[in-house]
Amino acid sequence: MDITDLERLIKSRRSIRRWKPVEVPEEMLKKAVELATWAPNGGNYQGWYFVIVKNRETIVRIADAVQSVADRIATWPEAKTWEEDVKRYQKNTSFFRKAPAVIGVFISDYRSVMDKVLLARESMDPIASRIMGFRRTAPTAIQSASAAATTMLLVFHQMGLGAIWLASPLMAKPEIETLLDVPSEMSLVCLIAVGYPDESPQKDRRSVDEVMKVI
Ligand SMILES: Cc1cc2nc3c(=O)[nH]c(=O)nc-3n(C[C@H](O)[C@H](O)[C@H](O)COP(=O)(O)O)c2cc1C
Repeated sequence: MDITDLERLIKSRRSIRRWKPVEVPEEMLKKAVELATWAPNGGNYQGWYFVIVKNRETIVRIADAVQSVADRIATWPEAKTWEEDVKRYQKNTSFFRKAPAVIGVFISDYRSVMDKVLLARESMDPIASRIMGFRRTAPTAIQSASAAATTMLLVFHQMGLGAIWLASPLMAKPEIETLLDVPSEMSLVCLIAVGYPDESPQKDRRSVDEVMKVI
């Protein structure tokens, strides 16, 4: 693959929210997860865990759990301030119930040696506490899971599948962790819904010059 093929792959990937009602072969799902485990990750600690959900009833139960939290939030008086946006969010929040497959991406906590030193000291030293605060703004575990999720989306796209990264299901984190019966140290980061695409959405990007500088 030369750089133009890679560029085409990266630029033609879009988030897909509508799928054909066709099953995705399990081998494809497993291959995508396997390739995702080759993503860079902090200290190569590989603290991730993936649950491939093909069972329709389980996908529906996850979607119901997410919808129920979104419905509850929409009833709060604070939601009135952004009523239209909240209603739109509420309406679109569980569209993944129709996805032929969903992959739960989980991660366990990661502590580098620096984290261990800082954690041991933070309660008595404001400088250690401040530095630990910086690390908490971008946890290595979440960065690692995100690298895996990104890799998976590109693999699915190359396979001719359409996928989407979903953070909104985090609203129902405990319900999903229970439904998917993951080890207790595993924490949900996102879901990836996938299937054969039934839409071809277009998206643009800001010019790179707006978001980059060279010094
Ligand atoms: C961290 C993250 C969380 C996302 N969460 C959601 C989500 O909860 N619901 C949704 O419909 N799309 C979600 N998306 C998809 C984005 O809306 C999408 O990537 C963005 O609009 C750019 O479109 P593209 O992926 O087609 O380029 C998420 C994407 C990322 C990277």
